[in-house]
Amino acid sequence: MMNSRERDTSDRGGREPVRIGVLGTGRIAAALVTGLCSAGGPSCSVLVSPRNAEVATGLANRFNQVSVAPDNQALLDGSDWVFLTLRPPMAHDVLSRLRFRSDHCVVSIMAMVQLDALKTLAAPASSVVRALTLPSVSGRTGPILLCPADEDTERFLTPLGAPLPMGDERQLEVLWAMTAMIAPFYALVERSAVWAEGHGVESGAARDYAAGFFRSIVQALDGVHDMAPLIAEAQTPGGLNEQALRTLTDAGWFEALTPVLDAILARLTDA
Ligand SMILES: NC(=O)c1ccc[n+]([C@@H]2O[C@H](COP(=O)([O-])OP(=O)(O)OC[C@H]3O[C@@H](n4cnc5c(N)ncnc54)[C@H](OP(=O)(O)O)[C@@H]3O)[C@@H](O)[C@H]2O)c1
Repeated sequence: MMNSRERDTSDRGGREPVRIGVLGTGRIAAALVTGLCSAGGPSCSVLVSPRNAEVATGLANRFNQVSVAPDNQALLDGSDWVFLTLRPPMAHDVLSRLRFRSDHCVVSIMAMVQLDALKTLAAPASSVVRALTLPSVSGRTGPILLCPADEDTERFLTPLGAPLPMGDERQLEVLWAMTAMIAPFYALVERSAVWAEGHGVESGAARDYAAGFFRSIVQALDGVHDMAPLIAEAQTPGGLNEQALRTLTDAGWFEALTPVLDAILARLTDA
């Protein structure tokens, strides 16, 4: 009998598809299942939990590999790899009612539920790993943080993006805090477009340009470790970028980031 770790997601060589369960069928679960099941993804069968019914049936209708489990326990019983994608406040209640197996490989995508608690809730599962996938997992791109470093889980996640193992949970949570910048970043794009509209630019053009412009400058970050040269290159002496950066710095924009991120980190770690 093959164990769950031998059923690798990258396996296309005649072995049975890896059996994946996704518990908590919401936004990040939908992105994850899309990444797993879209063309070019790993050979797998996916069980999703029945709640939320709309998302679950939508995924089952869209992908042949996806079925809706009759209940949460049936999902665990029919899976080898189990992704936990519940909202943090409900995690304890939901998980403490379920029976895990010792050969389950559990990957929690949930914020605020620490490894010690997860290991207790998922006992006797021998492999319990926290991971942070982003919505971009739907297109199998983007970094995926994981902790503890675990070779099998890293290999398992590789088809979905770029796994980045973290040495300890604190580091995972610090980088997790950074992901709270998604909405502020999009708000920056939106506010720039709204500002242009306010100056008479037609709405479609303002929004197309804002999206295309910010996308193009984000692409310049690919493979970049040191942002200082990018910041310097963008500033022609006496130019527009130099003026904007100086004005925003003087207005306290960048200083304001530290307490914002500190507060997010405190929420992530104090729960
Ligand atoms: N969204 C992201 O981009 C993202 C990224 C990384 C990590 N995460 C983490 O992923 C987790 C889920 O976030 P989310 O944004 O995907 O939230 P979400 O959309 O609310 O998904 C949670 C799902 O769990 C379902 N649920 C509620 N009670 C349940 C139960 N008893 N059994 C099974 N499922 C139940 C909810 O159904 P109802 O809708 O019917 O309540 C909902 O569909 C969070 O811990 C979050 O920190 C999210």
